[in-house]
Amino acid sequence: MTELPRLVVLISGRGSNLRALAEAIGQGRLRAAIAAVVSNRADAAGLRFAAEQGIPTRVVSHAGLARAAHSDALREAILPFDPHLVCLAGFMRLLAPSFTQAFPNRIVNIHPSLLPAFPGLDAQRQAFDYGVKISGCTVHLVDDELDHGPIVMQSVVPVLDDDTPETLAARILSAEHKTYPAAVERLLREPWAIAGRRVLFQSSQSA
Ligand code: GRF
Repeated sequence: MTELPRLVVLISGRGSNLRALAEAIGQGRLRAAIAAVVSNRADAAGLRFAAEQGIPTRVVSHAGLARAAHSDALREAILPFDPHLVCLAGFMRLLAPSFTQAFPNRIVNIHPSLLPAFPGLDAQRQAFDYGVKISGCTVHLVDDELDHGPIVMQSVVPVLDDDTPETLAARILSAEHKTYPAAVERLLREPWAIAGRRVLFQSSQSA
């Protein structure tokens, strides 16, 4: 039997996208294994979920560490798991170039807006306050700029007149839970290349 591709998932809190990845694996929609869950916060709820699932967990606290030192510590914690992909799932710390260079084009993130609109914190409220009629979520490769690397997959979520920032965020989160496992599965299974900022999947090319 061929070994499944290994994911290391980085979280800082709730971990609902981690759960979505684990559920997709359980249902056979994502053919991978979560080799480890790493958090910068010991109290992240997602860590409890991971432990319940028997997934190895690590805490690499950022307290008292500069970004580069924290990134180095994260890298050293992750390398033994030899991940095919490092999946950021609500991981709230910026990573230093020494980290991104250790896993070139093998780090992905999920962001709750249609990038490049509304990068950074509280993206759902940013979109709501701006008055956009559609928002959504973006899975992208991670580079050295915040919420910036080449886009892998996006899903659109309409903004309804009776939305609040909270109802919009909840619908975007549902979209995230479908989009992230689908994007990871595609990255792992299909040949792809990067052209400029574009992630091009072989199966999407015209004949
Ligand atoms: C999600 O909205 C994700 O897009 C953003 O942070 C949130 C994390 O939520 N990067 P969870 O911890 O996966 O529930």
